[in-house]
Amino acid sequence: MCGIVGYIGKQDTTKFLLDGLKELEYRGYDSAGIALLNDEKIDVFKALGKLKNLSEKVESAKLSKYEIGIGHTRWATHGKPTELNAHPHLGEYSYVVHNGIIENYKELKEELIKAGHNFVSQTDTEVIVHLFENFQNKLNDTTEAFKNTITKLEGAFSILLISKADPSKIFFFKHGSPLIIAKGNEKGEVLFSSSDAPLIGLSNEVVYLEDGVGGIASADSIEFFSDDYSWSTLPSSKQFAQKDGFRFFMEKEIYEQSSVVSDCMLGRIQDNEISFDEIDESILEGIKEIKICACGTSYHAGLTSSYLFERLSKVKCSIEVASEFRYKEPLLTKDTLFIVISQSGETADTLEALKMAKKAGLKSLVICNVDNSSMTRTADYTILTRAGIEKGVASTKAFSTQATVLWMLALYFAKINDSISSEKLQKELHALREVPKSLIIDDKIHEKTKRLSKRYLHGHGFFFIGRDVFFPLALEGALKLKEISYLHAEGYPSGEMKHGPIALADPELFTIALMPQNLLYDKIKSNVEELSARDSTICSISPLEFELSDDFIKTQKTDHYMLEFFEMLVVLQLFSMEISIRLGNDVDMPRNLAKSVTVE
Ligand code: M6R
Repeated sequence: MCGIVGYIGKQDTTKFLLDGLKELEYRGYDSAGIALLNDEKIDVFKALGKLKNLSEKVESAKLSKYEIGIGHTRWATHGKPTELNAHPHLGEYSYVVHNGIIENYKELKEELIKAGHNFVSQTDTEVIVHLFENFQNKLNDTTEAFKNTITKLEGAFSILLISKADPSKIFFFKHGSPLIIAKGNEKGEVLFSSSDAPLIGLSNEVVYLEDGVGGIASADSIEFFSDDYSWSTLPSSKQFAQKDGFRFFMEKEIYEQSSVVSDCMLGRIQDNEISFDEIDESILEGIKEIKICACGTSYHAGLTSSYLFERLSKVKCSIEVASEFRYKEPLLTKDTLFIVISQSGETADTLEALKMAKKAGLKSLVICNVDNSSMTRTADYTILTRAGIEKGVASTKAFSTQATVLWMLALYFAKINDSISSEKLQKELHALREVPKSLIIDDKIHEKTKRLSKRYLHGHGFFFIGRDVFFPLALEGALKLKEISYLHAEGYPSGEMKHGPIALADPELFTIALMPQNLLYDKIKSNVEELSARDSTICSISPLEFELSDDFIKTQKTDHYMLEFFEMLVVLQLFSMEISIRLGNDVDMPRNLAKSVTVE
């Protein structure tokens, strides 16, 4: 997730770009850059880290007057956060900023190198500007060159491109990642941004571009390549805009899950296998078992994957809470692959566990959302989850992207170990591709959680129960509720009830039962019946109606338990959020918690 801005007009171009990037900094802050164009030349400024570094550079330069500019704030996906990898990217005479991932960049890069183009960065983005110039050199027609460029790209790409070959224009295209074009309040002004916050107060009329829509803008006209667009009015509240109209960042992030999981899978699912740019098959050489360490929500993602690593990859897998692992004097052997999972990459306990494993000579891998964090700098291998910045303290999209990466990793290992038939692998890949769909939120489901929430504000506690991977999901559901509602909730494997917890059952004990159709349905049904017989209030989440439920949230019928897993995840997140809202709590910044726990 990155942020892009663009400006055409006679006002202060640099100011619009820097102010705009400041608003978009939440989308990524590994590096930032701007390219400013006037008839004779393009000036470029780039800086590593937060935007203030770029602003300081720009302030100390003597700037000419520019009537066109583009800018970018980066969340690294391909290539380390360095100044060379920062956008805008240059060809011979053009610059581009890009939000998304070009899936076929390797093939394109090879072709372009053969055609004589020189590349200076490790990014996927750089191919766009070279491809454009390759076409422009042949066709001498910037419009056609841009259109040809777009048709060659695969993946997600929202882009702005400027070129000395046509210095009064910005070429734009949206596919996958968000992009807005706006008419500025001043005559001849055109503005671009990844979200509406930078545009508030500067424009009234905007087009929220749909996928596949692009065009060319100048001070005189905005030309679209198709009719698939409409102008609308911009909201006037900045706070509302930053949250894209959602009430809380948590809500926005729950709704974002479908698209960030698509980003997370981009380029990683091939026709009949999984591939990761970041690792190769040698990662399993000499490995007999996997040990996972993490905290909180990341621990729940890890626990989920421990079922998948054993079931699919046939590798022995154990998992531990990082704070426990640190002091138990663990026996570490070099035939163990040590995996840590962390949204932030900074959690002190997880980082320390990783350092211990490294010290013991184990191969290590981090599944992380933040490149260049302490963990990505420490581990031997990193796989990024590409969830974009998560602002809500209660983790949501971090979990869904972690679970997706881990499921893909289990399949990647299964292929290496030859532990999965090609028929089964195809089925798994088919299901994986459906995950973004299962994370799309049906209005009716959100409404239902909203309505139900009012009946669950009292009582003496909640049991969230499930089996197999639905047990870690139950833990995650209970953690979400605890964190933001401050109500007492526990997650349990449903088969464990009769070994003690069922003693608590009475009408004031609320049981949230995860009852997937595709995994152990009858087993969990009996466990829920036992609770119902003891008068616990039951809310079941399932595609199948269950006559003993007091409340029922109906999920879709699918043919894979992991798709049920992701859909139920969303239900649990919405349910907790709605309860928290009703209780009047601070959803995004719950009491006593911090987003990143960098102390022991
Ligand atoms: O950044 P990390 O994933 O390492 O953080 C781990 C936990 O602190 C985190 O998941 C925490 O449990 C969240 N607040 C859960 O919503």
